[in-house]
Amino acid sequence: MVSGGGTNLQALIDAQKSGLIHSGEIVLVASNNLQAYALKRAEENGIESVVMTDEEELIRVFQEKDIQLVVLAGFLKILSSRFIRAFEDRIINIHPSLIPSFCGKGCYGLHVHEKALDYGVKITGATVHYVNEIPDGGRIIAQKAVEIKEDDTPQTLQRRVMEEAEWVLLPRAVEQISEMIAKGEK
Ligand code: GRF
Repeated sequence: MVSGGGTNLQALIDAQKSGLIHSGEIVLVASNNLQAYALKRAEENGIESVVMTDEEELIRVFQEKDIQLVVLAGFLKILSSRFIRAFEDRIINIHPSLIPSFCGKGCYGLHVHEKALDYGVKITGATVHYVNEIPDGGRIIAQKAVEIKEDDTPQTLQRRVMEEAEWVLLPRAVEQISEMIAKGEK
């Protein structure tokens, strides 16, 4: 599920092409934003996509396609508890900080890195976690640290956290969980 540029989706597509992701397949890209460049990335890679804001409809589409794992890759809407319950323990999210720092309501995109720089932390990073009713509150799956540099701006920091942490963590987590599902361990 995407909302914006889709660089995390691109990391997943590249990981599927390289064979890093091999226990599952990206079968659908769902966006709540018609303008999301992530939709173009899906199209360029022959992946079916839908643009939907009605979560009831989305649940039906996902169930029709027998979706086994929902990956929030730069998805900026808070999901309803109805949606979360429909895919219990099968939704993961990538957040651009080391949770529990700089997360929760209003902490998304560039704001996360602005807060980290304002606070003056020396280390930040990214977190992959399960999604529950609390924004960024689900069980942590993996984290990766990224050093903050003296001259960092929110933009340079966001880029480095994406490159060094998000785009590494998310494909690994997707493969790890897909393998558990394929083996019936989850
Ligand atoms: C970025 O802020 C990223 O840190 C977070 O979602 C936003 C967009 O990601 N995960 P993407 O390029 O759409 O994957």
